[in-house]
Amino acid sequence: MTAGAAIGACSASPASPRPAGSESAERSGTPAPGARTVLLAYFSRPGENYYNGGRRNIEVGNTEVLARMIADRIDCDVHRIQAADPYPAGYDATVRRNVREQDSEARPAVANPLASLDRYDTILLGSPIWNVRAPMIMTTFTEALGFRGRTVVPFTTHAMSGLGTTARDYAASCPGATIAEGLAVRGEEGRDAGAAVDAWLRRVGLPAS
Ligand SMILES: Cc1cc2nc3c(=O)[nH]c(=O)nc-3n(C[C@H](O)[C@H](O)[C@H](O)COP(=O)(O)O)c2cc1C
Repeated sequence: MTAGAAIGACSASPASPRPAGSESAERSGTPAPGARTVLLAYFSRPGENYYNGGRRNIEVGNTEVLARMIADRIDCDVHRIQAADPYPAGYDATVRRNVREQDSEARPAVANPLASLDRYDTILLGSPIWNVRAPMIMTTFTEALGFRGRTVVPFTTHAMSGLGTTARDYAASCPGATIAEGLAVRGEEGRDAGAAVDAWLRRVGLPAS
């Protein structure tokens, strides 16, 4: 996978990956038989990150680790949300930028927005928790799309804030959507979250395939 690229379709059909947002991933009208109707969209920042009270450099962001684990288990398209102005590799610089963005209700531009959610009825939205909510770029992403009648399933990685205010924030930025039970995993523990992921997928009606 190239950095910043969508990690591709997550069914067991590697011969025909279909990144979300590609022309073939968009539908108009009736979905083709066998078409995927679940999208997993996530944002994650590799680099210097929080780690058990200290800092550590990570090559793959914690949320991406969790996103891959979920994507390995269900039939879905996957879209990695990328910032047009990439976030710094440094932790403190990212904290400062995030404070500015939250305080100003900013909508940081998405480098790779999706044209529509037409072909999806369930959208998993994954992100880290930044200052007790999803990064503002998640709001940029959600506000640009029509979620009415769809189900949003949040998941987060975090240090201690769990889901933070994600359910409330997605309820506001995804009008008309049903917000399903979210999953929160400590960033340091993403690779050990298999059992929690399985149980959560069952509870939200997305059993592992
Ligand atoms: C700017 C910034 C703000 C953060 N704020 C919080 C917070 O309020 N609560 C919390 O539990 N963790 C917070 N964290 C920790 C991250 O949520 C956690 O390390 C997460 O797993 C990072 O995911 P990622 O590697 O996918 O970006 C923050 C991290 C950053 C970089």
